[in-house]
Amino acid sequence: MKSDEILLRELAKPGVHSGEDLGHLLGISRAAVSKRMAQLRQQGLPVVAAAGQGYCIEAGVRLLDENAIRSYLKPSTRDIFTSIQIESRLESTNELLQQTTTAPGRARLLLAESQDGGRGRRERRWYSSPWRNLMMSLTWHYQRWPPSLPSLSLLVGLVVSEALELVGVAGAKIKWPNDIYLNGKKLGGILVGARGEASGGCELVIGIGINVDLLPQHGAAIDQAWTDLRSQGYQIDRNELAALISEGLVELLPVFEREGFAPWQESWNRRALYKDQRVRLFGEGRAEIIGVLCGAEADGALIIQTTKERVQVRDAEYSLRLHPDSE
Ligand code: ATP
Ligand code: BTN
Repeated sequence: MKSDEILLRELAKPGVHSGEDLGHLLGISRAAVSKRMAQLRQQGLPVVAAAGQGYCIEAGVRLLDENAIRSYLKPSTRDIFTSIQIESRLESTNELLQQTTTAPGRARLLLAESQDGGRGRRERRWYSSPWRNLMMSLTWHYQRWPPSLPSLSLLVGLVVSEALELVGVAGAKIKWPNDIYLNGKKLGGILVGARGEASGGCELVIGIGINVDLLPQHGAAIDQAWTDLRSQGYQIDRNELAALISEGLVELLPVFEREGFAPWQESWNRRALYKDQRVRLFGEGRAEIIGVLCGAEADGALIIQTTKERVQVRDAEYSLRLHPDSE
């Protein structure tokens, strides 16, 4: 195990950890511990040095911890995860998992305390605050490409909003096709990547980012209204939320392969942002669509009632906004 990993695992345990004990554990001097702590603090680690006593994680923050995540999983789903990996810092959890393959019926879970190159759709950036947000990706393998694959990101949104409810965050909505909203602002995003031969198996990487505590300096570059759980008055354990989302996904994915979007149509519609409101859909090289958002069809298509007709939208390259008349 890398020495940072040992250090972080120790710090994840409650209480104050003396420099001497930490040095002993790592086989380094107290001065070397102090130097490493200063470096980690510079990278955003919310660690507090209590004079003469040692180090502890800032009140209200809990580090990501594989054992904690496992403890929140039901025993029946625990074995599905071939690995639950936590990295302090990487480019993008989606990107790293894109280089792996997964056995059928199994999942890999990767979480990062900080991402240097977090991605959204269409090569857009995903911003986050190191050690304070949730950035996770999960892999899944289908032996054949499910016909309704484009609707999967809608269902990932449903799993995320249900997991949020289980940790006490009520009222999260899904903005078609891949965003999570809370009180009218963007709280999280979903990025589903799929690769493989058209006639063969399909390797999925499902990436999820949730703003648990996004510091203003990291949110400043976001060019739309955003929010985080902390400013909405919620203090949650990221390990629990990660476990609930992962569990929801591994329960959903096999059923989705057999039955597609249909079993969740009503639940999705109940959580659809802008339902029964006038919206506008636009996209490069695409005809604008204006109408009332009626919900999703049984196959996951978004239904818009325009003044003339009922339109089914399957093209996720469209962007959805509330129509100015409805604001
Ligand atoms: P649409 O697909 O409707 O255009 P969108 O504008 O949310 O939706 P996405 O590609 O889904 O676009 O998401 C990427 C965008 O998310 C970025 O361009 C940025 O505006 C925003 N964003 C980046 N990081 C965060 C964050 N931590 N919280 C909220 N929003 C973010
Ligand atoms: C979006 O709103 O466009 C999707 C954002 C997805 C962000 C998550 S964070 C974990 C995973 N790794 C990435 O680089 N992106 C996703």
